[in-house]
Amino acid sequence: MRAAELKELLQFRRPQVRRTERVLANCVTVDDLHRAAMRYWPRGVRGYVDGGADGEMSLTRNRAAFRNFELVPTVLRDVTTVDTSTTLLGRASPMPFALGPTGYTRMMHPHGEWAVAKAALATGIPYTLSTMATVSLEDVATVGGDLWFQLYIWRDRDLMRELISRAASAGYRCLMVTVDTAVSGLRVRDHHNGFTLPPRLTPAAVADMALHPAWWAGLLAGPGITFANVERSAGAGGETVMAFAARQFDPSVTWDDIAEVRTRWPGPLLLKGAFSPADVRRARGLGIDAVALSNHGGRQLDQAWTPVRALPEIRSAIGADYPLFVDSGIRRGTDIAIALALGATGCLIGRPYLYGLGAAGERGCAAAIGMLGDEFTRAMQLLGVTTVSELRQRGAELIRRYSGEASCGT
Ligand SMILES: Cc1cc2nc3c(=O)[nH]c(=O)nc-3n(C[C@H](O)[C@H](O)[C@H](O)COP(=O)(O)O)c2cc1C
Repeated sequence: MRAAELKELLQFRRPQVRRTERVLANCVTVDDLHRAAMRYWPRGVRGYVDGGADGEMSLTRNRAAFRNFELVPTVLRDVTTVDTSTTLLGRASPMPFALGPTGYTRMMHPHGEWAVAKAALATGIPYTLSTMATVSLEDVATVGGDLWFQLYIWRDRDLMRELISRAASAGYRCLMVTVDTAVSGLRVRDHHNGFTLPPRLTPAAVADMALHPAWWAGLLAGPGITFANVERSAGAGGETVMAFAARQFDPSVTWDDIAEVRTRWPGPLLLKGAFSPADVRRARGLGIDAVALSNHGGRQLDQAWTPVRALPEIRSAIGADYPLFVDSGIRRGTDIAIALALGATGCLIGRPYLYGLGAAGERGCAAAIGMLGDEFTRAMQLLGVTTVSELRQRGAELIRRYSGEASCGT
């Protein structure tokens, strides 16, 4: 046997020298990206991303809820080609999901919101930039793509008005108003870890540098981390994220504020975190274009209704045609299929793209989107459906509630 034939048989893989290549070569699922990000991030960031509020019951239940459904495959249908595209708030998207808003993203990777916007652009799905972003909305807008802006109704209403007009001028297509933050949830892990903005160089942080040198090098080499959209209301550094948010969240926000936002924003407007059937009906009555059922990934009211469990009731209360998004706990393509079969118009992705970002920057973020997309495509094929609208229409036939042990896997 000649050497060339032997090499072919052995199928040697070229050694992966660059960290990004090496990490991505070993990641097949969002869980893999999660593990890689956990190795990169120091303790404070790990707790900030993965933590929930209070006893973290919502956090746990969000995942458990997805495990409590079973899918009913229908076989012997030609699924050679499936069309995963759909319309999200008036524009075509190759997949029935958008990236939801997450604050503080340059803490997860020095390229932060830039990298996320580029990954969303490359994969063609919408990205929602948070009010609490660490790159300004104008800078992110230069990346392009289907950009949505998430608004917190700040104590300072003039700042809110300014953010709305800045988002419109910068070309953001949809506005998502988050309404589940009358006050900030108690993020216990952030307290225990002393997680601050910007990170403080405490003795513990210095000791941590030895364990997470790449993360610290990225942080120290880049420009200082600020809430770039709201710099004038961000105070002196050294306070926890929660303390900052607590100063800004306004418990006096009411439907009148939402009515005002509606008059100021001509494009598609979503409410994120409205939940009860009555609130969703009220949103519709006010001319809000869509509601995102969300418990903020378990970060606000602990033991809040689990969005995917609430979905069937809300769908029947609001009717078949009203756009409903779902988030909190989506980690796999099958989760997206479950949400759609239960009546969701689309899903919002939260932590998975942050895991991708932490694992391998922009490419990791694109990998997370790609994995969810591939898994969703495969789920459609194995379910025997060829379009997203067929998945929604045949949902009742394709899904069952599972009453057994739900603690298997993630
Ligand atoms: C680190 C982090 C930061 C977040 N920041 C925001 C934010 O600024 N605005 C907002 O409306 N939601 C925010 N969320 C909530 C997400 O938009 C989304 O509702 C949540 O991540 C969904 O849960 P999942 O990540 O478990 O799927 C944040 C979530 C995480 C994990």
